[in-house]
Amino acid sequence: MSQLQTINFVLNSQQVSVSISDTQQSLLSFLRDSVRKTGTKEGCNEGDCGACTVVIGKITGDQIKYKAVNACILLLAQVDNCEVITVEGVQGDDGALHPVQQALVDYHGSQCGFCTPGFVMSLYAHYRNRLPADRQTLKDTLAGNLCRCTGYGPILAAGQAMYNYPEPKDEITASDKAVLSQGDDQIQNSTAEIFAPKTEEQLQELLQKLPEATLWAGGTDTGLWLTKKLQNLPQIILLGKIATLNFVKDTPQGLSIGAMASYSDVIAIVAGKWPAFGEVIRRTGSTQIRNSGTIGGNIANGSPIGDMAPILIVLGAKLVLRKQGQQREIFLEDFYRIWQAGFSGWRVSG
Ligand SMILES: Cc1cc2nc3c(=O)[nH]c(=O)nc-3n(C[C@H](O)[C@H](O)[C@H](O)COP(=O)(O)OP(=O)(O)OC[C@H]3O[C@@H](n4cnc5c(N)ncnc54)[C@H](O)[C@@H]3O)c2cc1C
Ligand code: FES
Ligand code: FES
Repeated sequence: MSQLQTINFVLNSQQVSVSISDTQQSLLSFLRDSVRKTGTKEGCNEGDCGACTVVIGKITGDQIKYKAVNACILLLAQVDNCEVITVEGVQGDDGALHPVQQALVDYHGSQCGFCTPGFVMSLYAHYRNRLPADRQTLKDTLAGNLCRCTGYGPILAAGQAMYNYPEPKDEITASDKAVLSQGDDQIQNSTAEIFAPKTEEQLQELLQKLPEATLWAGGTDTGLWLTKKLQNLPQIILLGKIATLNFVKDTPQGLSIGAMASYSDVIAIVAGKWPAFGEVIRRTGSTQIRNSGTIGGNIANGSPIGDMAPILIVLGAKLVLRKQGQQREIFLEDFYRIWQAGFSGWRVSG
């Protein structure tokens, strides 16, 4: 069984190996309580305020993709084989401020400072992805960061100016890259109750043995079960390492979206086909939520206020469900109505 005992990641250019003693510890709690990186702040603890924003780098193909995420609703175990960058890690080796930080200083983008590390990290992800520095793109980047005292004008002005400063070297070493590329050797038999299967077959095997386990996609719903409902989740299965669930394919039969594709993964292709649907995704949550949250999670949570189902039903979307080697397709329209009667144990695949 693909149980997760020890995880390895790169934290601010340092390789870290952590044994998972508390399977439900958030990345934010680890940063603040375990390694005293207190630059990352806790505000709401539910993905709304952005004070806990950090940047996660993941190998995708032959590139590392950087995304801003909310550390408060991300499990520590989810950063296995990732690069984690916090506000303590953005300045240069010589101590020089990163252009994002220098611009916030020069354009008076901080007053009490509580929100500032989160803004720095959202802008840092924007900078690393070389997104355009026009006001609308910056507003989309910063929509998940709340500031109660400075106001957004100076912060946006800093964002618009950040590319005018000398560019720092943002390089990752070959040995750090090796940590990001590691795979199964992290996954060992133990008594831990968090699992990170790498294939759908491993997932099916696990689900046969642990039918009550919680499936954890992006964690933007399930994270709040821990931080707000204070639930205990005795067995968690992380879906993030199953590469075959993370795809977006434009086929002659229609758009095919894997259960683990995030809002950020699909927005460009969806907006190209159905601009109004793209606009709904742009307004879903925030950049951080769209980077973590998946379409599959939105469908599977069955929330009456979920934004995806009504649009997907109107578009005639079908779900692909898998259970122990069997596969069936069903119109989303029918899925919720007969869930209770016939779908025990079936998992959304695409
Ligand atoms: C601050 C904030 C803002 C938000 N804004 C919006 C919004 O504007 N609109 C909106 O609709 N939602 C919003 N949400 C809710 C949430 O982000 C979405 O529902 C998201 O799509 C959930 O996806 P996830 O990957 O995070 O799912 P998770 O939280 O990981 O899982 C959600 C549920 O789906 C189940 N699940 C996940 N994957 C599968 C699978 N493959 N098969 C079977 N079951 C599965 C899980 O067990 C769980 O029950 C917001 C949440 C937060 C915290
Ligand atoms: S603490 Fe508010 S979003 Fe995480
Ligand atoms: S500077 Fe005080 S909340 Fe933003």
